[in-house]
Amino acid sequence: MKKVIIDCDPGHDDAIALLLAAKSDTIEIIGVTTVAGNSELYNTTRNARKILDYAGYEAIDVYAGCDRPMMRDLFRLTGAIIHGADGLGGPNIPAPTTPIKEEHAVDYLIQTLRNSDDRIILIVTGPMTNIAVALQKAPDIKDKIDRIIMMGGAVIEPGNITSAAEFNVFVDPEAAKIVINSGCELYLVSLDVSMKAVFKEDDIEKLRSQGDKISTTVASLLDFFAETHVKHFGFKACPIHDALCVGILIDESLVEFRKTYVDVPLHDPLTLGETVADLWEITGNMPNCHIAMKVNREKFVRMICEHMKK
Ligand code: RIB
Ligand code: CA
Repeated sequence: MKKVIIDCDPGHDDAIALLLAAKSDTIEIIGVTTVAGNSELYNTTRNARKILDYAGYEAIDVYAGCDRPMMRDLFRLTGAIIHGADGLGGPNIPAPTTPIKEEHAVDYLIQTLRNSDDRIILIVTGPMTNIAVALQKAPDIKDKIDRIIMMGGAVIEPGNITSAAEFNVFVDPEAAKIVINSGCELYLVSLDVSMKAVFKEDDIEKLRSQGDKISTTVASLLDFFAETHVKHFGFKACPIHDALCVGILIDESLVEFRKTYVDVPLHDPLTLGETVADLWEITGNMPNCHIAMKVNREKFVRMICEHMKK
C-alpha cells in the first residue's frame, strides 16, 4: 500500500481526488490536511470532512491548516465563480458529522512524518502553503517524504489565472518556490496535462448511469463544475485537475513526465507565479522536478468511473 497524506482545498476536483484515493486498493490515506485556496479555510475543511463522511470514510482524519498564503492575502476573485460560494457547489451533500482534528495541519504533517517508520507520499492539490511552512519549520522531514505530487503550474500551456500562472501556484507563489526548490522528489501535474484530463458531457452521463450513490453525486458535482467552466472559460468540460495526482499513483502509465529544472518568478506582476521550466537546459541548474508532458484521457476517465462505483 502506498501511504499518502492529501493536502487539499476542496473544491470539486479535490473532492474527486479524495474519493479516488479512498476507493483505491493500493493507496492508504493516513490523513487529510486542508488549506485556503478555492474557498476560505473553513469551507475547504468542511468540504473535505463532508465528502469523506458522505462516502463512509469517517475514520480518515482531517486537519485544518493555513488560512492564507505565506506572504499575501488570499486570492478571492475566482474560487466562488468556479466552485461556488461554499467551495463545493451543486448537489446537497449533508453536513459533516465527524469533528475536525484539533492539531494544526502543519504540526500534524511534521509529527506524522517524523514518527512514521515509512516514507510518505504527499499529494498536494491546493496552494502549497502548508507544505512550505512545514518544510521551513522542520527541514528534517524531507528525509521522510517519499515524493510530492503537486497539482500546479503551467509549463507550455497558458495559465488559468493569468496568462503565465496556474491558480494553486499563483495564490501562494512563495510557497510553491520553497517546495519546488526543497530538494524533495517532486512531480508537477500541471495544466499541460490536467486541461486534457477532462470529463466531457457523455463521460458525465456514463458516470451518472452507473446509478450508485457516489457516482450519481459526483456526476452532479461535475454538472455544476461544467456549467462554471462554460461561463468562465467558454468550454463545457470538466478538467479533473487534482484527481490526476492520485491517478498516477494507481497507474503510472497515465501520465508521461520529463525531469527538468523549474523555478517560480516572484517579482514581476506579469510573470508572478509562473512555473518556468529550463527545457533547453541553458541555466546549468540541476533538474528539480518531473514535469508532466502527456496524459491518457480515456484511461483516466475509465479509472474515475470504475473507482466511483466501488
Ligand atoms: O488550477 C487548478 C487548481 O486550482 C486545482 O487544484 C483546483 O482545485 C484549484 O485549486
Ligand atoms: Ca485544488
